[in-house]
Amino acid sequence: MIIPVILCGGSGTRLWPLSRQSYPKQFVPLMGERTLFQASALRLSGKVGGLDFAPPVVLTNSDFRFIVTEQLAGVGIDSGAILIEPEGRNTGPAVLAAALHVARTDPEAVMLVAPSDHVVTDLGAFHAAIAQGLSAVADGKLVTFGIAPTHPETAYGYLELAERPDGNGAPVALSRFVEKPDAARAAEMLAAGTYLWNAGIFLVKAADIIAAFQTHAPDLIAPVSAAVEAAEPDLGFLRLAAEPWADAENISVDYAVMERAGNLAVVPFSGGWSDLGGWDAVWREAGPDARGVSLSGNATAIDCDNALIRSESDRLEVVGIGLNNIMAIAMNDAVLVADMSRAQDVKQAVSVLKGRN
Ligand code: GDD
Ligand code: MG
Repeated sequence: MIIPVILCGGSGTRLWPLSRQSYPKQFVPLMGERTLFQASALRLSGKVGGLDFAPPVVLTNSDFRFIVTEQLAGVGIDSGAILIEPEGRNTGPAVLAAALHVARTDPEAVMLVAPSDHVVTDLGAFHAAIAQGLSAVADGKLVTFGIAPTHPETAYGYLELAERPDGNGAPVALSRFVEKPDAARAAEMLAAGTYLWNAGIFLVKAADIIAAFQTHAPDLIAPVSAAVEAAEPDLGFLRLAAEPWADAENISVDYAVMERAGNLAVVPFSGGWSDLGGWDAVWREAGPDARGVSLSGNATAIDCDNALIRSESDRLEVVGIGLNNIMAIAMNDAVLVADMSRAQDVKQAVSVLKGRN
């Protein structure tokens, strides 16, 4: 059995105005009818591709807890446990809390830690990659999944391969993990041809990831253990204890453990992974037409090229004429119009608006 651990406490500001503080991108149907969170949970459920998934452990915060239960029920998934973080401390404390929770029942349990805001199009390949990872997990490795890089992205982690992949998807040892390099470093790693992007998905034994935290981020152990031990059941949720939790450092699992650990392996994965990190990625994933136009909702394009036009509003018709490299996203209460090349700057809109309120 593999225990899915689904992280869904992030805020997704680059997909404003669809992604909101109270309802971030993982909970909205960005692609198709299901939300990204539902799709994440579904691809890690039941018996599939020779794998057997236990009900998921979900980590989220108080504001999203009912969204989580409603959306899981919406796709017929029972959750194993929903752990509520008293405040967001990033993925380091969240992953450690999940591992400590799981280890209380079975320290040898294998966990698949997954984000809730990604797209994976080839599920067969995804499950095959997880199956490949299991052999490395049995050897005590922390298994990552690596995507062939296409551009010098600075928002991802980079995995340096210690050896050439065999082409059959077997796990490969890693010589290094570099989280979110600067632009120059990212360009170097892309050119070197020996790096893959970190997909942000980890396959680990509970006891092994706890041991990695003990070695590489020992200061997290006491507060997070105390928060898990004193967790209180509340209407089917498990609330981590706030007082010790407040002492846990705000740090991602990538910086806390992955960059420092020596026992990493990577399974190369080419199953249509995208982290939908901005509207440009949504446009690409949505499969634009021959002129590069992608429409959604009450949207119309006349003589446009490379345009994403979405109306999530039941009141607004959005019409683009002669647009080139433009994205327009309309909600009932907010409209974003931006150059496609500025997709990463959308988070600035959120901070500007926050400053004004
Ligand atoms: N429960 C919980 N609590 N979840 C969180 C928290 C938190 O405090 N912070 C983030 N998450 C969730 C997000 O909702 C997302 O699903 C997942 O954890 C990953 O967090 P991100 O904040 O999106 O990470 P990132 O994109 O900057 O970087 C990670 O993913 C990249 C690939 O998309 C890293 O693992 C990179 O190395 C990787 O390349
Ligand atoms: Mg992300």
